[in-house]
Amino acid sequence: MVTIFRNKALDDYFIEVDCSDLSRVAPEDICRHYEAGKVILLSGFKIDYDQEFIANVNFPDTPKSLKKFPSHKFLELEAHERRYFGLKSLVRSTVYSARRQPSLSDQVLQQVFQGNRQRFRYFKDQVRHVNSQILHLCQALFPNYQRIHESITWRFSETRNENMHVDIYTEDLPEHHLRLFVNMDIIPRLWNTSWTLEQMLQGHLDKLDPAFVQQATSGRICHDLNFQVFGRMRDAGRDGQPRHITFFEPGEVWLVDSRKVSHQIVYGRRAISTDFAIARQSMLDPNQHYYNVVDRFRPVQQALEL
Ligand SMILES: [Fe+2]
Repeated sequence: MVTIFRNKALDDYFIEVDCSDLSRVAPEDICRHYEAGKVILLSGFKIDYDQEFIANVNFPDTPKSLKKFPSHKFLELEAHERRYFGLKSLVRSTVYSARRQPSLSDQVLQQVFQGNRQRFRYFKDQVRHVNSQILHLCQALFPNYQRIHESITWRFSETRNENMHVDIYTEDLPEHHLRLFVNMDIIPRLWNTSWTLEQMLQGHLDKLDPAFVQQATSGRICHDLNFQVFGRMRDAGRDGQPRHITFFEPGEVWLVDSRKVSHQIVYGRRAISTDFAIARQSMLDPNQHYYNVVDRFRPVQQALEL
């Protein structure tokens, strides 16, 4: 079970949900908690996988496609290749050499499994097995969410002392998103969490340029708020802000809208996370979308200018 060292300066936003029998969970309650920005800890539930095998799988830090391995895309490409190339590996390698870049599959085979096809095949079986459980779990917990895009990232390279942040993306994403995390290692994954997005907006939005706050997209505001509240990467872990300290045990599963709760990986080697784009209108309460959360704090700025 997860171990949490709570900080009294912060809200206790952790919620434990018994998932030992998925047919008995109340999806609406889970959805409400998730959209409200709680960190949902699943008790009595573990992903089934070959822990001994997976504990010896190490991905490199580069390229990015291996650091954050897009397992869903990988499985799709594998299926595609099987359909078009069958066993004609010669044709397949000719096509890729014509493109002068190794396929994702070849990168994994060579850089992760050093050309050992037996281990590589077994790894693919494990990816299929684990991903299907994750998809089933997401469907059971969020049956009403309309998934526009599915992404399951296997992050199997070592991470040390990220900076604290709420998630932001290169572009503002109008969709809601569903984020589920699994610790796939044999040691705990250490996370810190701090202020919620609402608290960051409440306490620090007035420190940003009012004209920027009025005009910028929600994502840009969150981007600048991250720096305002937690500083730059060089300050990682030493930003002076309070934090809950959390140890997620091997096999543990948790959910959190990472755009709404600030978080920091302190240490971890093997984890999986989903980033499913969800149609906003299928949310239990679309007003909980982070665009709306940011916008709720903007009128104050506008009123000041009138
Ligand atoms: Fe993050």
